[in-house]
Amino acid sequence: MKEEKFFLIEELLKIQEENELHYIPEDKILEIAKKTGRSPADIHSVISFYPRLSDKPRGKYLIRVCENLPCHLEGAQEVVDAIKDFLGIDFGQSTPDKKFYLERTSCLGLCTAAPVILINNVPYGNLTPEKVVEVLKEYMGGDND
Ligand code: FES
Repeated sequence: MKEEKFFLIEELLKIQEENELHYIPEDKILEIAKKTGRSPADIHSVISFYPRLSDKPRGKYLIRVCENLPCHLEGAQEVVDAIKDFLGIDFGQSTPDKKFYLERTSCLGLCTAAPVILINNVPYGNLTPEKVVEVLKEYMGGDND
């Protein structure tokens, strides 16, 4: 049963990673339900239990900000404030054009480069409020597609 759950979560993460807006669409939920013999409601409850999973469109660029102590001590809060100000969103929100979605994450194992964020799994470290805005501008301009 544990293995089955592991498979389910891995499969859901894979679907989400491949989706342009980083979520698990209803048709995929129905597919997984059929494949695993679970009900769609059961799949939805698994998704809502795991913070890394979503059944709602989030954004083309998923920004994950580390707020653990080493990043916090190196100025993560100022970086977070700059992201929020520049994009006009808070944690758990998307920009209106669904280009960016902001979420917290725990330590990314890159503490020597604190403070660190990930954008679609690409790490950016040693950030300052000015640097992070420059990075976001590159994504806005489509330079990182
Ligand atoms: S605490 Fe932020 S990467 Fe480790």
